[in-house]
Amino acid sequence: MEVLITGGTGYIGSHTVVEFQQAGYDVVVVDNLENSQADVIDHIEKITGTRPHFEIGDIRDKQALNNIFEMYPEIKHVVHFAAYKAVGESVQQPLKYYENNIGGTINLLEILQERHIQNFVFSSSCTVYGEVDKLPVTEDTPVVKAMSPYGNTKKICEEVLYDQSKISNLKVVSLRYFNPVGAHDSGLIGELPVGIPNNLAPFITQTAIGKRQSLTVFGNDYPTPDGTCVRDYIHVVDLAKAHVKAIQFLMHGKYHDHFNVFNIGTGRGNSVLEVIESFEKVSGQKLNYKIGPRREGDVVQIYSACEKATNILGWKAERDLDNCMESAWKWERHLKDLSKS
Ligand code: UD1
Repeated sequence: MEVLITGGTGYIGSHTVVEFQQAGYDVVVVDNLENSQADVIDHIEKITGTRPHFEIGDIRDKQALNNIFEMYPEIKHVVHFAAYKAVGESVQQPLKYYENNIGGTINLLEILQERHIQNFVFSSSCTVYGEVDKLPVTEDTPVVKAMSPYGNTKKICEEVLYDQSKISNLKVVSLRYFNPVGAHDSGLIGELPVGIPNNLAPFITQTAIGKRQSLTVFGNDYPTPDGTCVRDYIHVVDLAKAHVKAIQFLMHGKYHDHFNVFNIGTGRGNSVLEVIESFEKVSGQKLNYKIGPRREGDVVQIYSACEKATNILGWKAERDLDNCMESAWKWERHLKDLSKS
């Protein structure tokens, strides 16, 4: 029951390590710590009572990766998060994204093929759907030309995985995440954005705690009920649990194809203003925000149909938006306490 989690000290990765440990798996984490910190491993240990194995390594370095598989010959499953994820940066530095996100995935797949390791869960994104005509989005919605190199790496990796699953014994679940938010109930792990956050939830909590002056709502003239964009905000703990279900499905499930995609969202759309309202309610804080111009590249609205994940993986989101904002706020306050001590 040994599972390798690449990018396991990152935001979604760390929550996923916790869920696998709590489900009884022995976890090996590999991370290059470029966008995360080593003490995440201590915090995971505090939550679960078990320290995951941890190796500092870069997925671009195939030899280093191979050494990790040599050290842990019991690895049977791989959950692959390690990737760059900043949309804007990917536009400025596309090669960096293609090399790490695609090159790293290929290194990993070559090793899996050599070692006959079959079960692979990939961290994909609803960004592969682009702007859609019909909501909620099902997995049958065609994948479109990506709006950024980051999005393109997710699309290309899915294609690479599909092709590889056709000619080898590789079995893949690709999870298309909607908008991950929130943090672990313990307040010990959460999102640690480097620099100014691009994403809404950390920008809200950083504004409320005083790290940022004010939040700008990117546009209120969209054709949505309150004029602001609509997204499907999924609690990171719910999202993490989907990865355990995905591995269990690959081990025991009934499937025809060796490549399977699932939407991982709540099935609910919330506007930017609704997210702010939820935050204000659960935190008791008045948020300083203003309405600004639209952000280039934003889709107007997207939310998931997640019946496929429910019916086939036996997974369903359990937490609501208030819970997302409450845990995100608890985490932000924990970070403040840490910076004082
Ligand atoms: C973004 C990425 C997506 C990626 C996801 C990872 C883009 C175009 N898409 O999704 O590919 O998978 O992050 O989490 O960047 N907003 C504000 N003010 C802010 C920040 C955000 O109003 O300061 C609004 C945005 O306009 C959007 C919503 O909040 O409507 C969510 O934004 P964000 O958290 O950045 O996620 P996405 O853009 O949906």
